Amino acid sequence: MNEPESRRHLLKVTGLRAAAGGKEIIHGVDFEVHGGEVHVVMGPNGSGKSTLAHALMGRPGTTVTAGSVTLDGVELLELASWQRARAGLFLALQQPIEVPGVGLEAVMAEALDRPGDDRARGDDLGDRLRAEAAAIGFDERFLHRALNVDLSGGERKRNEMVQLGVLRPPFCVLDEIDSGLDVDALGAVARRLEQATRQWGLGVLAVTHFHRLLVELRADVVHVLVAGHIVATGGPELAEELEHTGYGAYAAS
Ligand SMILES: Nc1ncnc2c1ncn2[C@@H]1O[C@H](COP(=O)(O)OP(=O)(O)OP(=O)(O)O)[C@@H](O)[C@H]1O
Ligand SMILES: [Mg+2]
Repeated sequence: MNEPESRRHLLKVTGLRAAAGGKEIIHGVDFEVHGGEVHVVMGPNGSGKSTLAHALMGRPGTTVTAGSVTLDGVELLELASWQRARAGLFLALQQPIEVPGVGLEAVMAEALDRPGDDRARGDDLGDRLRAEAAAIGFDERFLHRALNVDLSGGERKRNEMVQLGVLRPPFCVLDEIDSGLDVDALGAVARRLEQATRQWGLGVLAVTHFHRLLVELRADVVHVLVAGHIVATGGPELAEELEHTGYGAYAAS
């Protein structure tokens, strides 16, 4: 967080309501993530965490019915998913999709191909991919496979971290980051994200049930989502409290 406050990026969610399957699930949430911060969303099963992530991502099947989501003042809700990614919101899915016939390097070159950005050029991109793969323990041989095809769950997550390191977006949203990862992979992913907050001021919004991850991520802010409402926001101590008390105290709110 070396950048002056005024230059840090801002992801601002205001009055967001979202529906899936014809019913409202997110009933108006507000929060702000600044560049360099790690925010974690916790909450009981079925409380709307994935729906919130899907709404931010613009996933088909999730409809935003009210509110706004801006990245440095740009309204993301009017943009398609890929445009949101271009605007600087990196979305890590619970189940990253397979893209047969398309290699990682081609996807990265395409994503980086924009005026004034020379990171997609030639050997440089291959070097960066290899360096990022080494940093996260992702087998270099997988870099040449079609995107996510025949990769295990943990390998896909590492693959996403490679992409993140190459693209260096201002913000990253991760749903169920811990699902399907062994403890080494979890540690590697969490450390990479935490490092990125310092390296280029990445802002993170991660959904997790796992207290240990929150510690490794060095979460700055914890939001508790219950029945589609943010019922509490606090520091990491809030997650510790939840470890002991559960979500029962919030059930009536
Ligand atoms: N497409 C859909 N159609 C109908 N109901 C849906 C749909 N998507 C989600 N829901 C419902 O919305 C509620 C919130 O689901 P969501 O997946 O957001 O919960 P979650 O907090 O991510 O839970 P978990 O911790 O189990 O992952 C659940 O009751 C779920 O059944
Ligand atoms: Mg979920």
